Amino acid sequence: MKSSSLFVCVLGLALAGQKVAADESAPPYLDAAQPVETRVEDLLSRLTLAEKISIIHADSKFTTAAIPRLGIPRRWLDDGPHGVREDIGPDTWASAGRTDDFSTAMPAGICLAATWNPELGFQEGEAIGQEARARGKDIMLGPGVNILRTPLCGRNFEYLGDDPFLSGVMCSGYIRGEQSQGVASCVKHFALNNEEFDRMSINVEVDERALREIYLPAFKAAVQDAGVWTVMGAYNQFRGQHCCHNDYLLNAILKDEWGFQGVVMSDWAGTHDTRQAALNGLDLEMGTEKKYDGFYLAQPYLNLLKSGELPLAGLDEKVRRNLRVMIATHVLDSDRKKGSLNTAAHQEVARQVAEEGIVLLKNENQTLPLDAAKLKTIAVIGENATRLHTHGGDSSGIKAFYEINPLDGIVKRAGKNVNVIFSEGYGKGGGADLTDRAVAAAKSADAVIYIGGLNHDRGFDCEGADRVDMRLPCDQDGLIQKIVAANPKTIVVLEGTMVEMDAWLGKVPALLQAWYPGMEGGNALAKVLFGDVNPSGKLPATFPKKLSDSPAHALGNYPGTNGTVTYAEGLLVGYRWFDTKNVGPQFPFGFGLSYTTFTYSDLKLIPAEGVNGVVTAQFDIENTGKVAGAEVAQLYVHQRNPALLRPEKELKGFKKVFLKPGEKQVVSIPLKKAAFEYYDDGKKSWVTDDDTFEILIGSSSRDLRLRDSFRPAVKKQARQKVFNLFPPYYAWNNKFTREEIGWNPGTEEVPQWTANFNFATNSLYGYPASIRGWHYGWNPAEDNLFPKKISETTSIPCSFSYNSGGDDLHGDFAYDLFLRHDDKKAAPQLEVMVWAGNNSTPIGEIFSTNIIKVEDVAFDLWAGTNAPAGYYVYTFVPHEKTAKLPAEGSLNVDMMDFFRLLKGRDYFSMDMYLDVVEGGFEIVRGKGWATCGWFSCEAE
Ligand code: BGC
Repeated sequence: MKSSSLFVCVLGLALAGQKVAADESAPPYLDAAQPVETRVEDLLSRLTLAEKISIIHADSKFTTAAIPRLGIPRRWLDDGPHGVREDIGPDTWASAGRTDDFSTAMPAGICLAATWNPELGFQEGEAIGQEARARGKDIMLGPGVNILRTPLCGRNFEYLGDDPFLSGVMCSGYIRGEQSQGVASCVKHFALNNEEFDRMSINVEVDERALREIYLPAFKAAVQDAGVWTVMGAYNQFRGQHCCHNDYLLNAILKDEWGFQGVVMSDWAGTHDTRQAALNGLDLEMGTEKKYDGFYLAQPYLNLLKSGELPLAGLDEKVRRNLRVMIATHVLDSDRKKGSLNTAAHQEVARQVAEEGIVLLKNENQTLPLDAAKLKTIAVIGENATRLHTHGGDSSGIKAFYEINPLDGIVKRAGKNVNVIFSEGYGKGGGADLTDRAVAAAKSADAVIYIGGLNHDRGFDCEGADRVDMRLPCDQDGLIQKIVAANPKTIVVLEGTMVEMDAWLGKVPALLQAWYPGMEGGNALAKVLFGDVNPSGKLPATFPKKLSDSPAHALGNYPGTNGTVTYAEGLLVGYRWFDTKNVGPQFPFGFGLSYTTFTYSDLKLIPAEGVNGVVTAQFDIENTGKVAGAEVAQLYVHQRNPALLRPEKELKGFKKVFLKPGEKQVVSIPLKKAAFEYYDDGKKSWVTDDDTFEILIGSSSRDLRLRDSFRPAVKKQARQKVFNLFPPYYAWNNKFTREEIGWNPGTEEVPQWTANFNFATNSLYGYPASIRGWHYGWNPAEDNLFPKKISETTSIPCSFSYNSGGDDLHGDFAYDLFLRHDDKKAAPQLEVMVWAGNNSTPIGEIFSTNIIKVEDVAFDLWAGTNAPAGYYVYTFVPHEKTAKLPAEGSLNVDMMDFFRLLKGRDYFSMDMYLDVVEGGFEIVRGKGWATCGWFSCEAE
């Protein structure tokens, strides 16, 4: 056991003693000291059918119904992701007209991504979580992590750029921060919502590799690294089925493969069919344009349940997931902490994200930073200098407490001795006189700060529609050229997402990309312009020179034809396209300048220890300039001779380092196996070729300073499964702070806790660490995951074994198995065997065998527990469960009770085999999970 796991053990024991004694009169579901699943099952058993239905759909635009008799309050959801949106509704999209629904307005998601600083993501999520609590919200609808596939997508500003790795790391920090406040994040929009054109219906066709390697990883990181509690389905269709009830995305991938145990909610009005919603993984229906009891998962679903056409077990599963999130968000607890709004700390986070997210794209002759002492007159030109943005963009808009616009920020920072003049320059009704006045202002000034770009008007950076082109609106191209001709010291600041710049870029000496920098944006921008802050933002997406250079447009695959858009560029999205196809970008992915200079040296590739680690890249970075600054060191992997096409290089690690002038730091970026893998669609699994890989380190994707090559050792034996712990579950029950469990927002370098389940020897090394782990899928040695069709006698081993090493076993163990007929054959039979043993006894004794027939399903489950005194002495706990297998639909065999019998026992080890004696069943889902127990854990 490593020392880190010892820390958790000791901590777990220490805190266990501090638990407040449960109120004996309170039902288990109200007792916060009880394990989450105990509370869930207890509450589930008390709900009527009608109450269960009320939990899985909305009763206003952003709420679900209360159940006062059980103390369940109304649940409140809200947008997301840039703060807590003003109150809407209740039954329309109109503002609720309140005066107490302001919030801190954070910079847009793309700006957060440009910080490349996951710790800031954590802080932003934490602040929004606190504000959500103050505003009485339980679930916040963000972050949005759809990949920037085309520069035209109207929601690119909300998302985190075009790289799956960066998006995954940045969203994970945010989610951890928000959920640390007992507020659920909702990662959205799952999946492939990459354009707003025809967004409610457009059907996306994408190959399996691009799906797995480009469009899903950020969601997977949200689920598996950050433990997000809710996921929002997307409006669009994927392979002909709407994403809010897409069997493959929701059941097969999200729930079965990734083990997601939280709630899948629809996007607002994204549900279209009751049966699909019932069976394909949707757990909460929101925003349907119908009366609430006419929602697909309301009365229509109830009717099908009552007639027996749909199984009740499916409803229970949805309710269970909702209850789990209710418990996580403390909505049932009387002592839920009040939050705080608009604190100095929150304002500080908003400003810092803007400061670190603004990207310096050009700075000839050290035009920046400006020295106020040397300037008499500054002309600030451009409509965006005074325009407020935080309320815009549609659902992500915020009713901000205040918003410092760029002009205000500059005036304040420039001080009394500098004359700041303002000229609008362009605007909707703009014409020649606006231009003339701007040119005159430029001529009269020592320097010009031009503040233009896009805005949140529909058709620019706004939900619900895409942009029509990539050009600056209102002939800003022409205006900028006139201004720079009038005053060569013209600094261009662009707000919004990427635009074409060829018309003027060569003529201006300095350019800053400021995105939408939130309510502290003007202050942040002024600090960057005047050098109080040294810019450290890096582009989270490639800026093409022109629209037709970017992959979807180069191949003519936007916006799609006849309702379908085919992602023919496959994996080659963003810099993967530009680098592989040798197309020169305007500004490459990862690019961003600083007021200082950094040198990189001394790269070493150190073979890593541990199950998951492969190699650690270690190198030095030195600040060789005169001012302090931060550099984002980026690590890309290039494979020399891949068996299948791979992009020229891919980001697999990064690290932001803050250095004083002259300071040198050793930077380590560990790489795990995943850094070398690609998805082999033939094998339907992630593979690593036996090949040499180049490790490229640099300041951007096209400014590589160090390189070395590496050949990972080929491991012949099956990969040991390492299960990520789900911190929320850990936190749910034990209420530890993140500091207490050493749980930090996720750079590759900061350890994450994992539980190691060694399936090869069928043993689980037990130390009292009070960590829960998950077991999902079957036969992990073969990576043989669901869904699986069984047509003849098949044995699917599913192993779970546990040895506490003498410490008490606490809590419940649950195993849910979902079976569904795929073909109504006469009397299909299932045989369930549970074998018991312990770690040193080979598995082999069958303690119970039972035949399951269609009409009468019964099976005995036995678990062996060996008494602490004698290692080979077993006492067995028989448990029989009978259930009717419906003629159609699915049967949920809930083995919860069975596992409950294990409670309090010191040792047990169990294998369960499901044998299909005759075909006719499809296993649609199978997973087990242990809600409590002492598992071994190690920091990777
Ligand atoms: C958007 C979501 C948003 C929801 C609720 C939808 O139109 O696509 O991102 O969370 O509305 O406002």
